[in-house]
Amino acid sequence: VPTRCRARAAFADARASTARERTRRDETRRTQKRPTMRVLVTGGAGYIGSHTCVRLLDAGYDVVVVDNYDNSCAIALDRVRAIVGDAVSARLSAHEVDCCDADALEEVFATYDGRGGVDAVIHFAGLKAVGESVAKPMRYYSNNITSTLVLCDVMARHGCKKIIFSSSATVYGEPATVPCTEDFPTAALNPYGRTKLFIEHILTDLYKSDQAWDVAILRYFNPVGAHASGTLGEDPKGIPNNLMPFVQQVAVGRRPELSVFGTDYPTQDGTGRRDYIHVVDLADGHVAAVKKLTDSVSKAGLITVNLGTGKSTSVLELVAAFEKASGKTIPMKMVDRRPGDAAEVYAKTDKAFDVLGWRAERTIEDCCIDQWKWASTNPYGYAGKEDAE
Ligand code: NAD
Ligand code: UFG
Repeated sequence: VPTRCRARAAFADARASTARERTRRDETRRTQKRPTMRVLVTGGAGYIGSHTCVRLLDAGYDVVVVDNYDNSCAIALDRVRAIVGDAVSARLSAHEVDCCDADALEEVFATYDGRGGVDAVIHFAGLKAVGESVAKPMRYYSNNITSTLVLCDVMARHGCKKIIFSSSATVYGEPATVPCTEDFPTAALNPYGRTKLFIEHILTDLYKSDQAWDVAILRYFNPVGAHASGTLGEDPKGIPNNLMPFVQQVAVGRRPELSVFGTDYPTQDGTGRRDYIHVVDLADGHVAAVKKLTDSVSKAGLITVNLGTGKSTSVLELVAAFEKASGKTIPMKMVDRRPGDAAEVYAKTDKAFDVLGWRAERTIEDCCIDQWKWASTNPYGYAGKEDAE
């Protein structure tokens, strides 16, 4: 065989083998899943977000936090890293970005494009103070709605169509009966609640227009408690709006007394009853939702689920449980009802169990024990006394 023919045959062989190799590599890339899935968590430095980051990392996910630290600080993420340990914390990255900033968010998603992309997003980022939302409605509409629109747009452009949204029991307004089931009529009593309701509608319309999306709307009842290590917890700026952080601040001496809003409700002890859910249980509900949305066998579609315990506790019962856990006395002043407060709100939890295979496990006593561990070791939150006051 002439040398030239032998060379041509060898070249053809080499080319075929390279093509075979390339096909094999492509095939492997197509069929082999990345060892870990990546979840992008907006508002991941906040109260619920930071606890969810811990549980996601513990469950083996890569986590990308996007937060503008409007109501949080990067120290919370340092605490997350410390809880999960050095090896696992390498799977957490954080970007100081405002979700309303399309270019910046685009850049974050682009960072991960070449590395398998983002598999799902949990959208915690938002403003949540009811009173402030009445005083500054445009700030709430602008931040909460714009961030969601921008986020969904950027996600779609990067081929990620799985989103979990932080909604709230506030969308039940003042429910006519309890427990609240997901098919109850919805209503909004203030601009904050309206942003939640609008976003629920926006995500529903998005899903209806393009069923390649998977959307989980999670309606939280009253998140309380802290990580059992006592290093992670809620750190509200200014005067707390909600009961548990207020009780905590009375216990550590930052406030003289708790005002109990209303003692003439048609409840056993006359005070309002709510469904307090431990924040770590809530975080686990998000891990369950991520699993549901990324399940390769069955498609989730659009799901709306309550995350609560299915039990209610009165203001006085909560204070008693906190006093027992902390050994502190909480001075109380009985005052008029707070306008817009319902007598009793709690969740029907069957759907969460049927759809997500999740249910809350911790009791109100557990909530108070962990809340006190956090409060007693961080009485002024992450930043310490000077910054808190
Ligand atoms: P949080 O304020 O502690 O956390 C929200 C985080 O989002 C903060 O870290 C904040 O800095 C960040 N953020 C706000 N706007 C942003 C933006 N435009 N871009 C980037 N980051 C932004 O609140 P949380 O208690 O952890 O609540 C998380 C979500 O759950 C919120 O959407 C809230 O409305 C919802 N929710 C909370 C409760 C509750 O009682 N805590 C109840 C129901 C629903
Ligand atoms: N309460 C007091 N004193 C206080 C604060 C609260 O007595 O200083 C009472 C309230 O009247 C209510 C109960 O404690 O009976 C719980 O009040 P929170 O403000 O802690 O919780 P709400 O259920 O009223 O509302 C909160 C958020 C809503 C959200 C809802 C469910 O503020 O936006 O939880 O997630 F929708």
